[in-house]
Amino acid sequence: RRSVEFSINVDFSQPNCPATSTAINSLPCPSPPPPAPSLSLLRACTTMKEFKRIHFLMIRTGLARFAVHQRRLLSFCCASGCGDLAYARLLLDVIPTPDPFLWNCLIRAHSDHRAPRAAVAAYVAMLASGLAPNAHTFPFLLKGFTRDDDVVQCGYELHAHAVKFGLAANSHVRNALLRMYAVGGKVDSARELFDSCSERDVVLWNAMISGYNRNTLFEESCRLFVSMARESIRPNGITYISVLSACAKMRNLDCGKQIHQCVLTSSHLPELRLQNALIEMYQQCSDMEAAWRVFVEMPTRDVISWTALVVGFAKSGEVDRARELFDQMPERDLVSWTAMINGYVAANKFKVALEVFRAMQVAMVRPDAFTMVTVLTACAQLGALEVGEWIRTYMDRNQIKMDIAVGNALIDMYSKCGCVKNAVEVFDRMTCKDRFTWTTIISGLALNGHGEDAIYLFYKMVETDVRPDGVTYIGALTACAHAGLVDKGRQLFSSMITRHGIMPNVTHYGCLVDLLSRFGQLEEALETINNMPMKPNSAVWGALLAACRVHGNLEIAELAGKHLLRMDLPDSAAYLLLSNIYAKSNKFDEAHEMREAIRAKGIRKEPGCSSVEMNGEIHEFVAGDRSHPRSSEIYSKLEEMSKELNAAGYVADTSEIFVSMVEKEKANAINEHSERLAIAFGLISSEPGATIRVVKNLRICVDCHNAMKFLSEIYKREIVVRDRKRFHRFINGLCSCNDYW
Ligand SMILES: *[C@@H]1O[C@H](CO)[C@@H](O)[C@H](O)[C@H]1NC(C)=O
Ligand SMILES: [Zn+2]
Repeated sequence: RRSVEFSINVDFSQPNCPATSTAINSLPCPSPPPPAPSLSLLRACTTMKEFKRIHFLMIRTGLARFAVHQRRLLSFCCASGCGDLAYARLLLDVIPTPDPFLWNCLIRAHSDHRAPRAAVAAYVAMLASGLAPNAHTFPFLLKGFTRDDDVVQCGYELHAHAVKFGLAANSHVRNALLRMYAVGGKVDSARELFDSCSERDVVLWNAMISGYNRNTLFEESCRLFVSMARESIRPNGITYISVLSACAKMRNLDCGKQIHQCVLTSSHLPELRLQNALIEMYQQCSDMEAAWRVFVEMPTRDVISWTALVVGFAKSGEVDRARELFDQMPERDLVSWTAMINGYVAANKFKVALEVFRAMQVAMVRPDAFTMVTVLTACAQLGALEVGEWIRTYMDRNQIKMDIAVGNALIDMYSKCGCVKNAVEVFDRMTCKDRFTWTTIISGLALNGHGEDAIYLFYKMVETDVRPDGVTYIGALTACAHAGLVDKGRQLFSSMITRHGIMPNVTHYGCLVDLLSRFGQLEEALETINNMPMKPNSAVWGALLAACRVHGNLEIAELAGKHLLRMDLPDSAAYLLLSNIYAKSNKFDEAHEMREAIRAKGIRKEPGCSSVEMNGEIHEFVAGDRSHPRSSEIYSKLEEMSKELNAAGYVADTSEIFVSMVEKEKANAINEHSERLAIAFGLISSEPGATIRVVKNLRICVDCHNAMKFLSEIYKREIVVRDRKRFHRFINGLCSCNDYW
């Protein structure tokens, strides 16, 4: 036996191995073993405790000396689940002449446990015992290697060992070394090894291609695939799967289609994994029709094939088609459920998204953090505070890790549900904060009218090394607008360029114009618009026009209106605003003209819709809605509300009645605005004194805003209304927005 003349430099602490050698099994016995009842015992054994008894028995009967028994004993200890690797090592130490098989067994077991250092320690011990590695040793040893630098360093030394032991040309060893380099991120070393091999089989090519994939060098993968054909190496299924995955990652449809052609001529089809790779490639490249064609031709499909289609259709906006497939799936996993929920969120169908999430619970599929982020997004949009809170508790209880994305989603949910306090609490508790965390809390505070706090946090953020971006600035400028901080807003706007080098786009200019005009600086706002480096959009003119109504400036209103009407917008908001302004200035002909224009052009007003959450369920109302199961109760409550309002001295705003007539709503339509239905429902279905939270898809109208103030006083309720722009918190007859919105 040759002695080993070199050792490994890297210090992997060896498991200590007290010698428990007994005299009985120290002598090797070359003759065949006697009949062995203990072997069948060992086969039935399931715990180390039982195992130790059997081992003892074998030592006593002398069976433990035989190689066949030693193999069985060691295999048991190395088995995953019930095994014990420290004990395995003890076994090895008391065997006077263990063969490499036994050591390989232990090395492989360490690798399978993702403990590369322990595997190397076993390898070193093997060398120390005077044994040389064989062709199996290196593959077993290397397969547990990770990206860890020390481990990779050790990999280079092991490569040298393989050469010295004359094993480097063995194809298994070669593949293992190549894979080890690729996993360790040393893709150049992998390529060097690849190029140095004189005879390369398809397995080695595959290892190199997947090595490139692993290191996100997808173009290299494709290039290698092409040279493979040049060297007349026939790709196999795994080759195709790897290159297709590279095409998918690059979103390179052309390349993917070419590979598909190669696959078709290669007689590798039908094969489930390969077809799944094709579907995935087409899905990633957004060619869902091609993905569908592959799918329908599959003789068998698994959950991956179905899910890829669901993901693809959901992503491309065909959520109904995704749902159809989702309902047909024989089984659904976490990914398919999450894709479906995500699809509904992307399609703004938040209520359905929550329904699917509920069904997922019933199906007992455990959501992960990513699912939670998606569901929280839906809650935020719906103002579904109860569901959002439930999710937070659920995550606590099920120990789903709250990463930054989940934290950000929670902050967003709380602020969009009007619970700034909780949003701030989550924010404070987050130890890791990224740009989105700061931006979310700043925008959340702004939305809720806590402009000063938002600005305070903005400056705190600037002090940290997290840099604000354009979105953060939108939040900060909105904060100024909602808090009336005109000077601060101007200052922020210029610091955006000078301090952070962010060029304001038309949205930022819109914020500035909104801020200035809202606080009566209409001339300055107009000047800002005229000096904008880009074409003002409808939001910019719209902000100015809306402010003109509040400040009663007909001249600028007409100017803004002219620009807006020229833009041919699909909704009637500008016409209505102008019509209102004309009516207020007693220019009834012009007001009439505007209403005629709406009728003539067939422009519609986006229907108002309000929702309220009750016991975790979202109830939606549109104006004049009678579809709710408790409709008759709601309408009698409305009547009562109307009487109470009149008694309290509330007078309906006539300008809004104009609007109602334009919309050809019923005469009492104003009483049936969606937000009032939502409030009526809230009043009859919640405890006295409970806060009523309403989410409205449009801006709240002047008249309803007024009515809400009265209602909060009459019914002694806090009423929180989130409209398209911001929050209104009505308490004791006052609104948190101070009537600026
Ligand atoms: C302006 O920039 C912000 C982010 O910097 C972005 O969210 C917004 O969509 C942009 N506006 C337009 C009209 O592109
Ligand atoms: Zn308000």
